[in-house]
Amino acid sequence: MRIPESKIEEIRITANAVDIISEYVQLRKRGKNYVGLCPFHNEKTPSFTVSDEKQIFHCFGCHTGGNVFKFLMEYKKISFVEAVQEIAEQLGIPLEYQESAGYEEQQTEQETLYDINTESAKYFLNNLLNDEEADGARKYLQARNIKPQTIRAFGLGYTLRGWENFINFAKGKKIDLDRAVKLGLIGKSDDGRYYDKLSGRLIFPIFSPNGRVVAFAGRILDPEEKGAKYINSPESLIYSKSKILYGLSFAKDEIRRLNKAILVEGYMDLISLYQSGVKNVVAVSGTALTYDQVQLLSRYTKDVVLLFDSDTAGINASMRSIEVLLKQDMEVKIVSLPEGEDPDSYVNKFGKDKFDDLMKIAENFIEYQTRYYDSLGKLSDPASAAEAIRDLVKSLVLIRDELKRNLLIKNIAKKFNLREKLLEAELNKIISKESIRRPNVVRSSEKEKAEKEGLQRIIDEGKLDPLLYNLEKELIKLLFDGQKPIIKFISKNIDAEEFNIEVHPKLVGIVYEELNSSESLSASKLIAEIKDEELESYVREITFEPHSISTNWEERNPGMTPEMILQKYTKDIVLKFKLFKIDRQIKDNHNRIESADKEEDVLQLMVSNKELEEEKKALKENFEEIEID
Ligand code: CTP
Ligand code: MN
Repeated sequence: MRIPESKIEEIRITANAVDIISEYVQLRKRGKNYVGLCPFHNEKTPSFTVSDEKQIFHCFGCHTGGNVFKFLMEYKKISFVEAVQEIAEQLGIPLEYQESAGYEEQQTEQETLYDINTESAKYFLNNLLNDEEADGARKYLQARNIKPQTIRAFGLGYTLRGWENFINFAKGKKIDLDRAVKLGLIGKSDDGRYYDKLSGRLIFPIFSPNGRVVAFAGRILDPEEKGAKYINSPESLIYSKSKILYGLSFAKDEIRRLNKAILVEGYMDLISLYQSGVKNVVAVSGTALTYDQVQLLSRYTKDVVLLFDSDTAGINASMRSIEVLLKQDMEVKIVSLPEGEDPDSYVNKFGKDKFDDLMKIAENFIEYQTRYYDSLGKLSDPASAAEAIRDLVKSLVLIRDELKRNLLIKNIAKKFNLREKLLEAELNKIISKESIRRPNVVRSSEKEKAEKEGLQRIIDEGKLDPLLYNLEKELIKLLFDGQKPIIKFISKNIDAEEFNIEVHPKLVGIVYEELNSSESLSASKLIAEIKDEELESYVREITFEPHSISTNWEERNPGMTPEMILQKYTKDIVLKFKLFKIDRQIKDNHNRIESADKEEDVLQLMVSNKELEEEKKALKENFEEIEID
């Protein structure tokens, strides 16, 4: 089932981005646009911008943006179809559906999987609360001080022993068994027989950031029993382990409110802390912290406190996590627990107040790593101390903020009684090695920056004239304004391939394509056609800049409507662009004349230049007369 394109278009045109977004974000008018605090990352000054005219939003801080549909998708973590449905409902536009295959079908497949998980979670919870067999599980939780309301809040559950309890339940609910296999609830043996995958286990449902059950973890209850301590759902259409943080759906509001997240290792750690009133916690649940998990967390805060077990595994996990966090510009602090404790045992033994005290003495990563090396005895002899200090400096390299880096250098210098210059030299040595390697490790958000820096570099190196870049940028802005006469005019005069900056021909191609294939054009529609996320962000960013029409244009041209002024401006830019190209040829010829050996070459180049000069003149005259319509 799908919603027809024309219907989506109708909704897109009817929906007002400012109205819809202001239900979720407090917006203030600034100039032509509206600004507010970005809901997708943490900020104190507004860089989240909504254009009423273009019907798009863009955050200049985290580069998230797009049209109203995209806003709801991001904000509510819902699918495109769900966003369309929601807006249609608000606007009172009745929806109609078409049969289809492909993308939308995948949407409904996802829905089916979510439904199976939700049904199963309810069933497991019911087992835990009511089944006689779960008596042991209930006692176990009680012994671990987990209260009944906490069981309900986290939807914990229990799976009955045996091979086909779940299967029978699933059959009764008409759940497709093969889908349940994909979700890891049921196993399938080589001879095709189904069996319960999670039997006799305590169940922790794992939720997506917006609270849908995407997976399960089943903990063994009887320590005597063989088998893995936890069985976790496999990756599926709705579950990607490296992109989920356990507990985020519960913790996100508190993380935003306190602008701080505590990162723990285990399910029980999170649940116990939450129950005791520490609610800004998420758990990595056993894996090494991933880039995607940090990305996800950074939408809510940049401030993270690591609270891992005090065992070797915990320390190693801390070290690795520190690296991932620093690389993504997060503020990292580390809390060390007393020997033998984990966050769950600590808070249950000592209570919330003591826990809060512990949080107050969180160390920065330099202090933490130093202490760690010290505990290994590495700081006592000069050779291994040098190595340890080098390791510390290596962590510094991960911090992109120079000011912060310098402060930490001072910190290390003081601690080891070393000259700052020495550490700086060491740092620079590592940086220069890194920068050779860097290109391979750029991540998508960094890539975007690199792309722009790349452009800047091209300009800097003088390969491209900044004037040319600005002209092309203005043209791109005009094209993505979505006004048909203007697009038509530009397309008649400049081919997509004539653009010089690497990404521009592709962008121009998209607009020209739409001009040919679509009845109606608009900024938000054109921008949605750019399927490449980085390019889209680039266009949004530049379209929010006002056109550089000089202010005295309006004074010089009294009585002209803004529309007429924009058309005049377009003509002006197109002409400048064409003249620029001819001028470049002329200049090129001049250079060749200077280095030419043969007289006839010189002559020919001079003739060519004369022709180009004439072409320029003709062009100027022509443009005087052309009208845009
Ligand atoms: N983990 C896992 N599979 C295992 C062991 C651990 O997925 N076989 C993950 C779980 O997410 C677990 C976390 O690693 O929560 C931490 O492991 P551990 O400290 O052993 O478990 P706890 O959650 O502390 O469990 P408990 O306190 O009940 O022993
Ligand atoms: Mn534990």
